[in-house]
Amino acid sequence: MSEQQKILITRKLPDAVTQRALATYQAEINAADNPYGTDDMLVRTQGASGLLCTITNDLSRDVIMALPECVRIIATFSVGFEHIDLGAAKERGIVVTNTPGVLTDATADIALLLMLGAARRAPEGSRMIAEGWTGWTPTQLMGIEISGKRLGIVGMGDIGRAVAARARAFGMRIHYYNRNRLTTDLEQGAIFHETLESLLPVSDFLSLHCPLNDQTRHLLNAQRIALLPDRPVVINTARGPVVDDAALIAALKSGRVAAAGLDVFEGEPDIAPGYHDCPNAFILPHLGSATVETRNAMGFTALDNMDAFFAGKEPPNRIA
Ligand code: DGY
Repeated sequence: MSEQQKILITRKLPDAVTQRALATYQAEINAADNPYGTDDMLVRTQGASGLLCTITNDLSRDVIMALPECVRIIATFSVGFEHIDLGAAKERGIVVTNTPGVLTDATADIALLLMLGAARRAPEGSRMIAEGWTGWTPTQLMGIEISGKRLGIVGMGDIGRAVAARARAFGMRIHYYNRNRLTTDLEQGAIFHETLESLLPVSDFLSLHCPLNDQTRHLLNAQRIALLPDRPVVINTARGPVVDDAALIAALKSGRVAAAGLDVFEGEPDIAPGYHDCPNAFILPHLGSATVETRNAMGFTALDNMDAFFAGKEPPNRIA
């Protein structure tokens, strides 16, 4: 019976999710929200059949191989799963699930926030107010208008398409690069590019929505930045390592890239220090899915996956 299962929840989750977990499972929760290191996790999973983890947990091969025999499912509170070695989990016979779909709108909203904020110089405006604004002038903080501009989307999955839908409402023209061309229904008039090299020169705004893997690591590097039109705006809500920080920082400093809106960073929570010297970088601390509605939905989806698994059914979002 699922009521009897012991599970470890590695981070403090929203109250509604914690309550549901405690009602169903013998759940060890992390009320203090101390990030558990590997040793902690290995000790705390003793006797647990399930692990509800987040993107802040390292579930690399060595860690998965060291998990106690009793752990049968890892349900991650995220759509991304690059923190989990799926191959190792399969070898161990551990089922892995994620939370696709539920964070599409929240993440697309953040992409638009970054796009507008970067293009309209929101961080510089806030700083100006904080430092003592001396009044309106005709040439103050002139930004870039987004309507009529071409938006290049890398990765036209759920989130890429949700960004496209929002951007269309702002009068942007959508171009995209994706492994496969979408059906006309899903394209909604967006123009498909078979290669990144074809997409980049038409991307006045470039928004990244691809997963992180060996093919996409440092996908936006100096060579590819050079292919963008003059003074583009770059948005990243996908994963930090998709961007080569040194190349983007150099382009922001030289003005080759007009502005960047970034929600994710390689090595986060550490951020390449160069971004702090770029007034044209609008940076947020990985807030893509941070709404009450979405974080609840992520938790409930992770629990749905566990409930199905412990009831002997196929979890709806199984990835390994
Ligand atoms: C995810 O779910 O992968 C997100 O990055 C968390 O916001």
